[in-house]
Amino acid sequence: MESATILAIETSCDETAAAVVRNGREILSNVIYSQIDLHTLYGGVVPEIASRKHIEKINQVMAQALKEAGMELSDLDAVAVTYGPGLVGPLLVGVSEAKAVSFASGLPLIGVHHIEGHISANYIEHHDLEPPFVCLVASGGHSHLVVVKDYGEYEVLGRTRDDAAGEAFDKVARAIGLGYPGGPKIDKVAREGDPDAIAFPRAKVGDSDYDFSFSGLKSAVLNYLNSCQMKGETICQADVAASFQKAVVDVLTEHSMAAVERCGLRKFAIAGGVASNSALRQALEKACAEREIAFYRPSPLLCTDNAAMIGAAAYYEYVRGVRHGLDLNAVPGLKLGQT
Ligand code: KG4
Ligand code: ZN
Repeated sequence: MESATILAIETSCDETAAAVVRNGREILSNVIYSQIDLHTLYGGVVPEIASRKHIEKINQVMAQALKEAGMELSDLDAVAVTYGPGLVGPLLVGVSEAKAVSFASGLPLIGVHHIEGHISANYIEHHDLEPPFVCLVASGGHSHLVVVKDYGEYEVLGRTRDDAAGEAFDKVARAIGLGYPGGPKIDKVAREGDPDAIAFPRAKVGDSDYDFSFSGLKSAVLNYLNSCQMKGETICQADVAASFQKAVVDVLTEHSMAAVERCGLRKFAIAGGVASNSALRQALEKACAEREIAFYRPSPLLCTDNAAMIGAAAYYEYVRGVRHGLDLNAVPGLKLGQT
């Protein structure tokens, strides 16, 4: 395959990120400015504040990514950017920046799907990984089971019918007083708790083996908290966190293994912020080992939002000949496989 060094930009939510990636597999730099502290004050991401902060930070983050890679724009082959899905204001900042760079430098512009980016984080971590494989994508906005048929070619087997897995982590964390961002906090507190202390439901979605539903589980946790309060019982935060986490992990593991077995593929990968959850990583590692399925997972830093994963995805789009014009726009509801 041809060689290409790509500058990538990611601003779809609350991380202002830029990276330089060579041939889709090698990180030359990966700069992430996290806005989390700013949004923690409000208990979640405030889109207007995120947009404004992206504008303030993007030039600096991009300059740092180039500097750390020891590159000038003239050393690059393309500029890539997440153009959806995500929050429209934040996405627009990255898209505008990438278009400006493309216009000024003459570099080709490549718009990247955010989920394709998450999946491609695996290519950076595992140089031997090639499609086809099954991938579980679990993040704050998405829970998808995907067959990666080839580079840039996806079949979505299942998705969440309501809340994404990460969203459930964030909402339950808030309800038990852990605050934002919930996922990492529940992960940590759950280590001190008993995962079998409370029997929360494992939701089945009627006609599908692969779709997920997490809003029922979230309601079950809220009901449990209410009933404890009414009875004057104090809750054990660690037990609630561990039992809730176990319910999510069980469903994600069961559906993932059903998909892998049904597809007859022997390779399984995970991606997205929730993929950094330690209990989920352990459960999937064990389930794959029992079935002699090769298990791939990015390091936690590459699971949560970053631009290196966008640079990895962009390389395979570049090789496939995908180029976008300066009319590229942010598409908040972009579907996977739509270019
Ligand atoms: O992929 P990501 O950084 O952003 C989106 O594209 O949504 O995912 C963020 C989500 C948040 O909901 C966060 O609570 C969750 O991933 N998350 C975790 C963990 N780390 C991040 N969930 C469970 N356990 C973790 N260790
Ligand atoms: Zn993401």
